[in-house]
Formats: sequence, structure tokens, C-alpha cells
Amino acid sequence: ADIALGFDSAEAYLADDNYIGCIVGRYAGRIAGGRFEIDGRVYQVPCNEGPNLLHGGNPGFHRKLWRASIEARSLRLDLVSPDGEAGFPGEVRVTARYSFTNAFELVLSLDAQTTAPTLLNLTHHAYWNLAGAGAQSVLGHELSIEATQYMPVGAGMLPTGAIEPVAHTPFDFLTPKTIGRDIGADHPQLIAAFGFDHAFLTEGAGLRRIAALAHALSGRRLTIHSDLPCLQLYSLNATPSPIHGKGGATYPARSAVALEPQGLPSARNILQRDQEYSSVIRYMLDNTSSPSYERTSSRHITVSPSRSTKRAR
Ligand code: BGC
Repeated sequence: ADIALGFDSAEAYLADDNYIGCIVGRYAGRIAGGRFEIDGRVYQVPCNEGPNLLHGGNPGFHRKLWRASIEARSLRLDLVSPDGEAGFPGEVRVTARYSFTNAFELVLSLDAQTTAPTLLNLTHHAYWNLAGAGAQSVLGHELSIEATQYMPVGAGMLPTGAIEPVAHTPFDFLTPKTIGRDIGADHPQLIAAFGFDHAFLTEGAGLRRIAALAHALSGRRLTIHSDLPCLQLYSLNATPSPIHGKGGATYPARSAVALEPQGLPSARNILQRDQEYSSVIRYMLDNTSSPSYERTSSRHITVSPSRSTKRAR
């Protein structure tokens, strides 16, 4: 099945307000007041979500036409974001490479440079439904997130800056559970966000497993590895207007989940002129009901001793 939400035409992607299937930039997440400081200079960028900036503002990278080319087994996408675009300093050049491997993996590498210090926080905003895009709910999917801490949100869905333990809260996905199990719990953070829309601080560093999503009925499982420090979980809590997707499908609220590896919202995520931004997001698919499951799963699941200690709390 086609398990990622999307559209049949480029125009529909350009008109979409849900960031379906795009690379988000220059800045994934929200910037309070659209204001930030770099080297003592204050920048005010035009806001696109009330008084705040969401997902790079206008034009964000999701509204740009990227230059596409084929490189061996990769699709290469290049984008030049001019100095001052959407209010951000520096000319930023981004290269995204999507590569398929023989092991049913889709690897997205994101590389960027800037001509002046700037903010940069890229992510991929795929929405998944392993029953097939257009299935009306994702609440029965089992999710695990390798995070012992998450960041609560306040007014305007801005992270308050606090870091809270997930233990004994609906935000504990260390042991797999369905997205729907606790989404309706009487927890102030779930009420504030109308569901899950939070940054999780994923354990460890370097390229590591950060999350897995599984659909019991089909046996399909998606495992995500990344070297990025944080994962935004968004359970498509509301749709500003009805979403008409691929092949006439509709995508109502809670019919998909976005799992967005990215930089920490509390970090300033500044890219310097002499620095190379480089990150990897690896999506691995297998089927727990297929005969090859044992073979593929033994390679995919590695739980380090330190992690198993944490899980055993
Ligand atoms: C954010 C949500 C936002 C959504 C837009 C997500 O990444 O966390 O707050 O509404 O993107 O589609």
C-alpha cells in the first residue's frame, strides 16, 4: 500500500497548509514572535501563524521548487534560498538526497551551507498511515519513541522551554503502545495541543533508532533512525480545511502521524558560515508477518544495555 500521505499534483502540495510530505525549512517548529538574535543582532521575520513563525515562514522550503536530478540510486534535490528570504540572513544552499537501499530503507540526507550565520532546523514532514494513506484513523497504530523526556507547550503551541520526564504520563512511548491509548487522557498538555504535538528528546547521539510505528493488521512496521536530537510527534490533530489527497482519498484529523526528527526547539540551531549542516533520517520498512521478518528484524532491533536499563525502570 501507499503509506505516506500526499497529493496528485504539484499545485495541491503548494496549496496545502499541513506541510504534507515536504522538507521543512528554514526552521522547523515555531519561533516566538518571529524574533531571534545572532551575534548581538536582532532579526524580526514576518510571522505566518498569528504572532509567531511556523515552519520557516513565507516562503518556507515547502513552497519552493527544488532542482531535481538522479545520482546513482538517489534522487537529489537542490535548493538555493537567497540571503534575506523569509527574513532570514545568509544565502543557504541545501541538498537533500533520497536513496533506496537493498534492505527496504529510504535514507534522506540533508546537507546545507550558509554565506552568513543563520538559523537552520530542517526536518521531513511525512505523514504516515501504515494501513494505507486514506485509512481514516491512525489511533490503532503502535508507536514507540526512544525518549525519556519531552517538552511541554504553552500559549501559541510554543515550547515553554521546560523539559519533563515522560514517566507516568501519556507521553511515555518507551514501551510500544497505540497512539490512541492515551491521546484522550485528561492531561493538560494533551488538552492544550488537542492531542500529541510535542518534541521528544530522543536518547543517545549519532545515528540511532529513535522511533518505530507498527500496524498490527498488516504487519507493517516503520522504524526511524536519525542523528538528530529530537523528534516532534504530531497526530494530525486538526485540519484547517478538508484535505483531499492522492487518488480521491480524504485525510481527516488523526488519520496519520508525523514523526519529525529535528534540532531541539530550545537550542538556537545556528549555522555558521564555515560550518556544514549535515543530518540523516533513515526510514526502514519491514513486515512482522512476512517470512523474512526474523532475518530483517534481528538487524533492525538493537537495544543497548544502557537503554534496556532505562526501560526496566
Ligand atoms: C507542528 C504542528 C503544526 C503542523 C502543521 C507540525 O509539525 O508540530 O503544531 O500544526 O506541523 O501541519
